[in-house]
Order: sequence, then structure tokens, then C-alpha cells
Amino acid sequence: MSDPMKRSSRERGKERQTEIFLDGIAGTRPAVPTDATRLEAAARATMRPEGFAYVAGGAGSERTMRANREALDRWRIVPRVLCDVSCRDTSITMFGDEHPSPLLLAPIGVLEIAHADADLAVARAAAAERVPMIFSNQASHAMEECAAVMGDAPRWFQLYWSTSNALVASFVARAEACGCRAIVLTLDTTMLGWRPRDLDLAYLPFLRGKGIAQYTSDSVFRASLAQPLDPSASRRRTPLTLSAVRAFIELVRRHPGTFLEKMRSGEPRAAVQRFIATYSRPSLAWKDLDYLRGLTSLPILLKGILHPDDARMAVDAGMNGVIVSNHGGRQIDGAIGALDALPDVVDAVGGRLPVLFDSGIRSGADVFTALALGATAVCLGRPYVYGLAIAGEQGVREVIRTVLAELDLTMGLAGCVSIGEITRERLVRAA
Ligand code: FNR
Repeated sequence: MSDPMKRSSRERGKERQTEIFLDGIAGTRPAVPTDATRLEAAARATMRPEGFAYVAGGAGSERTMRANREALDRWRIVPRVLCDVSCRDTSITMFGDEHPSPLLLAPIGVLEIAHADADLAVARAAAAERVPMIFSNQASHAMEECAAVMGDAPRWFQLYWSTSNALVASFVARAEACGCRAIVLTLDTTMLGWRPRDLDLAYLPFLRGKGIAQYTSDSVFRASLAQPLDPSASRRRTPLTLSAVRAFIELVRRHPGTFLEKMRSGEPRAAVQRFIATYSRPSLAWKDLDYLRGLTSLPILLKGILHPDDARMAVDAGMNGVIVSNHGGRQIDGAIGALDALPDVVDAVGGRLPVLFDSGIRSGADVFTALALGATAVCLGRPYVYGLAIAGEQGVREVIRTVLAELDLTMGLAGCVSIGEITRERLVRAA
């Protein structure tokens, strides 16, 4: 497989098609389906029901998830012909860095429920395909471990603002130290949304010690384990069942350190309790952003922006970018489809900051549509997790290559030779 940095984008689409069709002559079909619906179905078949529910599920009756797709489906691409599209360039420049494509991997927590290699497999795949990975605050591997397998490939860090400013400062300092080029502050998850798929399976990965590796690898967090927890916090006792014992052993196994030492210290359980007490900060307000601004000179992007006034306030607060997103419909049931919010946010920002987009992207044609409505770049979410579940690092690579191949072909077939040429004039509203 050639180096994607050197490979001209002219070849991306054709190269992927050729590879798949030639494999077909040898009797092999793609293990990682190129169609988004079949991709999800193949991942479902390999994942445990609780893990699949956690990834695939959304808030309430999942109207927002549907709205994300409906918003994309309401736009139609209008191709232009005779444009000499023999040479196409999918590169963009963001925050001074050149990227071969306008795609990033959205921050997704608890990847160990999809595959044992989790974030490490995604980090390797992202690096190989030169697509920036946004490390999740809720990752299954510490950011330093991921950075170590990425060479000089681009990576950003996504932050949840916990109740501890010292912990926030520590996460940001670690992100800087491991070469992250931007901080993404996610604002739509100050509390966990109401998610019936997880509730009905009574499954929350964090309570089992999954998805808290950034915390258990952090010196500030570890030091806090010695301090007493707030006595008013709910401390409901779990009945001693076989399932509870299994969950406890799994929890201990996941925590860093030797088994005996962990059993003796009780640290694994303390870490989960401390995480629950620390993770969420519903009091977060605009004035708090000054503190984060003071911690780092890296670009800061606000993720979860859906209202144009919030986008304007992000500009006024000295932020460097926004990500239009409704967290893949996982937080509010009946929220605006993310793509429906994009044009107003783009207009409000008026070119002063990059506007990134996620929530509902399933194909290269979707990426084209979001770019045409003014997105600077687009984050891919659930599809790469499904690729991970099916075939680990290789699965993530295949999903990325599929999306970029279709973007390349869609651009050319629509008459565009650069990302800058993908504008609103390329779209009409569906009748
Ligand atoms: C997420 N997302 C997310 N966002 C974030 O800022 N930090 C996180 O840790 C997570 N974790 C997470 C876990 C899972 C299982 C999912 C599906 C999503 C949201 C993510 O970054 C992105 O906004 C959505 O995935 C976009 O929606 P689609 O395109 O995946 O449907």
C-alpha cells in the first residue's frame, strides 16, 4: 500500500476500487463492507450486545440520530461537466498544518468494547492514513501510549472539563507534551444523556473501569485517590452476585499495576468512584474558558456548537474553532439534525474560524455535502469504530480509505478539483 501522503489524490478513488475488484477475481470480498448499513451490521455480529448498544445507541427514542441522517438526505449534489477533473487535490490547511484530506477521526471513548487493541489500533491506522486522530478524554489507552505509535502523524486531544481544574491542567499539559496540535473542548456532555439501549441492558462501561485510562495514568488523578470522597455522594451497595464478582475482577484487571498490589490497595474501585465524582461539571460557563485559554497556546475548538449565537460567542471568547456536532444524537432526543445547524453557524462565524462538522457522516458523499455547506473539515465517528470491531487496525484503515475514495470520486464526478471548489452552489435542496 503506497504512502497516502505521497499518493496523489487523483488515484485515491480508483486505487481503492481497483484493489477491491482485483481481490474479487481471486474470490475475496471486502471483510469490512463499503456500505455503511452493512458495515454496522457486520460490526454488530462481532461485538458483544452491550458493547454494540453503547456505540450504536442514542438518546431517548433516537430521533436526533435519525435527524442527522435526514438532514444529510435533504441535500442533492448538482454535478458540473467538462471541468478537466483528471487531477484532484483533497488537501486542506488548518491551524498552519497541511493535511492530505479534510477528514479527522472524531474522539470516541471506550474503544476497548470494540476491539482489544482499542485506541492503539486506531492511532496506528490514523497515522498510516495521515488522518488526524482526536484522542478521547475517555480513551481506553493513555494518550502517551497512542502518541508513541503514531510517529510524527497529527493528533489532537479532546477534553471533558472535570470538577478538578488541576486535572484539566494536567490533561492539557500531557496533550502538549505528546505532540497534540489542538485541544477540542466538548461541551454537550456536561451530563450523560438518557440512553435507553444502555439503560435497558444496565450497562455503563465506566463503572467497570473501562474508558478511564487518561485518568488512571494521570499523576494528579492518582494523587486524588488518597483524599476522602464527598460523603453525601450516593454509595449504593452492589449485591454480591456472580456477575458482580466477575465485573470486579475485570475492573481490577484493567487497572494499572500488579494484581496483588491492586487487590491490597483497593485502588481500582477507588479510581472508578473518584472518576464518577470528578468527571462531570454542569456548572461550566463561558467565563471558565479564560482559564483554559491561559493553560495553552494550542488552538482550542469548542465541540457541540449548534446555535449561531454560541458560535459568535466562541469567536468573542478567543476560541480558535468550533465543531458543529450533536454528539451523534447521544445526548438530547429530538435535537436539531447537526447538518441543519451547519449553514447558520458558518454564516455566524463568517470565515473568522474553521468550522468542523460531525454527526451522521457515513460516506465520502456525506463529507462532500458537509464541505459544500461550509465545513472546513469533517470528523468521522461510528463507522471507524465498526471497522475496528471487524478487523482492528486494518478495519479502521479500510473504513478511512473507503470514505476518502468516495470523496475523491464524488469530487471529480461533480466537477471539483480542489476542496475550495466544493461550495454551496454545488447543492440544491431535495424537492
Ligand atoms: C462518542 N463521542 C464522543 N465525543 C467526545 O467528544 N468525547 C468522547 O469521548 C466521545 N465518545 C463517544 C463514544 C461513542 C461510542 C460514540 C458513538 C460517540 C461523539 C463523537 O465524537 C462524534 O461526535 C459522534 O460519533 C458523531 O456522530 P456519528 O457520525 O458517529 O453518528
